Amino acid sequence: MLVILKRDAGEVSHQAAQLIAGAVRRKPSLVLGLATGSTMIGIYQQLVRLHREGSLDFSQVVTFNLDEYLGLAPAHPQSFHHFMHEHLFAHVNINPRNIHIPDGTIHENYDQYCASYEQSIRAAGGIDIQLLGIGRNGHIGFNEPTSSIASRTRLKVLSKETLDDNSKSFAPGEERPRCAITMGIGSILDARKVLLIATGASKAAAVAKSIEGPITSAVSASALQLHPDVTFLVDDEAASQLTQRDYYLRVLEMTALLTPDRLS
Ligand code: F6R
Repeated sequence: MLVILKRDAGEVSHQAAQLIAGAVRRKPSLVLGLATGSTMIGIYQQLVRLHREGSLDFSQVVTFNLDEYLGLAPAHPQSFHHFMHEHLFAHVNINPRNIHIPDGTIHENYDQYCASYEQSIRAAGGIDIQLLGIGRNGHIGFNEPTSSIASRTRLKVLSKETLDDNSKSFAPGEERPRCAITMGIGSILDARKVLLIATGASKAAAVAKSIEGPITSAVSASALQLHPDVTFLVDDEAASQLTQRDYYLRVLEMTALLTPDRLS
C-alpha cells in the first residue's frame, strides 16, 4: 500500500491525473475503472486539460464506471451517465463504444444484467486501474457498510448516510433513487491497480479506518488492504486522523528514489 499525502484537493487532482495519464501513455488501450462524485471533478478537469494540450489520447481507452442509480435514465441530470459526459467524455476523444456504465433503467433480471456487466469487464481483459472515491461511511462504489468483501456487481440499497449526502444534488420534492447498481468489492479487488482519492475533513475518519483500522465489512474501503497494488492519494484534511503520517512520508521519499515509476 502506498499513501501519498498532498496539501489540498488541487494538488491531489493534479497528481491523480498525472498517474492516470502516465498509465494511458504507457498503454494506450488502458482499461480504466471510473467513479463519479465531487472528488472526481477536479481530476477529470485535469485529464481534459491534458487532452486539449495534445498530450493525452483517449481513442483506445476503455472505461467501466463503478455504479449508477437505479431508475435514472442516462439523460437525467443526476445520473452518473450524465455526470461522466458532462465532466469527461464530452471533452475527450474517447470512442463511445468503449464507454461502459451500468444501466439504471433495467427493471427485471437484475442478476443476469449484473453478471453481463462483469462479463464485459472480463472480455475487455480486466481493469488496469480502478479509480475510487470514498464515502463518509467508508463506501467504495456504492458498497455500503456490511457489503461482502467478496461481492460482485449487483443491486444495492443505499444507506441513510449516502441518501443524505446525495440529496443535495436533487431538487426539493424530486424523487430520489434508493438503490443503485454497483460493482462489488470483489470486482474492485480484481483490478490490477487501485487508486483511491480522498479530500476534505469529512473523509478523515473513513480514510483512517480504511488505511489503519481492521479489515471489516463495516468499512468497505478497508478491504483494499488486501490488494497488492493500492494507492491512497489524500489531502491534508482527509489525512488528519492518520497516525502514521511520518512513516508514509518516508516511504514516499524512498519510493521516489527506488521505484519512481510508481509515482508517475
Ligand atoms: C460514485 C462512487 C462513490 C463516491 C463517494 C464519494 O461513483 O463511487 O463511492 O466516490 O460517494 O463521493 P464524493 O466525491 O461526492 O464525496
